[in-house]
Amino acid sequence: MLPSPDTRGPMNVLLIGSGGREHALALALSKSPLLDKLFAAPGNPGIGTLAENVAVDVTNHAAVIDFCRLMKIDFVVVGPEAPLVAGLVDDLAAAGIPAFGPSKAAAQLEGSKGFTKDLAAEFDIPTAAYGRFKDKASALAYLDAHPAPIVVKADGLAAGKGVIVAISDVEARDAVESIFSGAFGAAGAEIVIEEFMEGEEASFFALCDGERALAFASAQDHKRVGEGDVGPNTGGMGAYSPAPVMTEEMSARVMRDIIAPTLRGMKARGAPYKGVLFAGLMLTKDGPKLIEYNARFGDPETQVMLPRLDEDLLPLLMQCAKGALRSKPVALSDRTALTVVFAAPGYPENPQKGSVIRGVEKAASMEGVVVFHAGTKRQGADLVANGGRVLNVTALGADVKQARDRAYAGLDAIDWPEGFCRRDIGWRALT
Ligand code: AMP
Ligand code: GLY
Repeated sequence: MLPSPDTRGPMNVLLIGSGGREHALALALSKSPLLDKLFAAPGNPGIGTLAENVAVDVTNHAAVIDFCRLMKIDFVVVGPEAPLVAGLVDDLAAAGIPAFGPSKAAAQLEGSKGFTKDLAAEFDIPTAAYGRFKDKASALAYLDAHPAPIVVKADGLAAGKGVIVAISDVEARDAVESIFSGAFGAAGAEIVIEEFMEGEEASFFALCDGERALAFASAQDHKRVGEGDVGPNTGGMGAYSPAPVMTEEMSARVMRDIIAPTLRGMKARGAPYKGVLFAGLMLTKDGPKLIEYNARFGDPETQVMLPRLDEDLLPLLMQCAKGALRSKPVALSDRTALTVVFAAPGYPENPQKGSVIRGVEKAASMEGVVVFHAGTKRQGADLVANGGRVLNVTALGADVKQARDRAYAGLDAIDWPEGFCRRDIGWRALT
């Protein structure tokens, strides 16, 4: 729903991205009383019901800046990591346009695993023991001294696929061979090998303004494509928020032992971190440890965190960019949100595009249900699949069970015979 003229505020906002995460951001931003007009580049059909989708090439920073000047954009919100790592926020700032998200230097927390590991080592941030390698011989020598299970990672951005949890020594050596023979392109020019950590995983999000951090929310996702957590890794097949393991005490511990020293370290490196810091955590028997950082909101974690937000998102994001984050806790509903990813056949290896999807409106009218578009496209009057993760059927409920039952009822109201989902989203929180 576009804001009606009499409720419009003063600000024009440009949202960068086209996934389910950006649809959830668009929904939250569109409710802001501060908003006049919301634009999205490139957006998707779901976002198009809340914003004006514009075909600006986001890899062309000069074109983005020209668009911002032309449309009098007051604030830019960057969703995905690629434009952050490419320095879009730096170029916007140089042009006098404030934007939510870290600078290119600060986005190295996601862009280089080795950078993050070195920061953790220097600033006493609990994480797995590790080594960094630029050549095969030294990586293989490290494996000789550190038997499996062990984890081998391409240093750079590899679309979530550059991590091999090796159960055997042979697997670990194969991973080193394959990364150094170019399996992940330039992302694999360097390798990180690290200790295998045992525990429950959780995602934790903190808003940051360069100096201070404010806890935002927690979530848990389901990375494997198949029920029971089997099959290849994906961008995430479903998620829920909050993560029951992230108690208030655990969140405070993560803020103190992991997030705060990270902000100190980034400042000391001349790259103060502004934006949302997404910590992948392993809750080990020795306490929470950092697996990795992302320099952005999660997808699909955002689709379950933002429906729980009981206040205006826009001022919080602006405070991060301005370096003036408040200390009052974020107002979050204690209800649970759960999302199920409805994916195209063949995902993640080879998603097939083009099949027709019907009934999204019917699902979205059900109690507590919101359907976020990810990889969809309009083709004439039809909505068709246009990516791997196509829809995120999301529901709020009093607890995980009610949220789950509502989300699956919503999903079952959608008529898309080709699509598939996992039927066990939320299992860990329910057992
Ligand atoms: P990442 O892309 O770094 O989040 O890694 C993907 C997945 O690999 C994580 O969600 C974990 O399940 C697993 N993983 C990564 N690093 C480790 C580690 N050091 N020990 C155990 N599991 C890990
Ligand atoms: N769902 C994991 C991510 O956004 O990286």
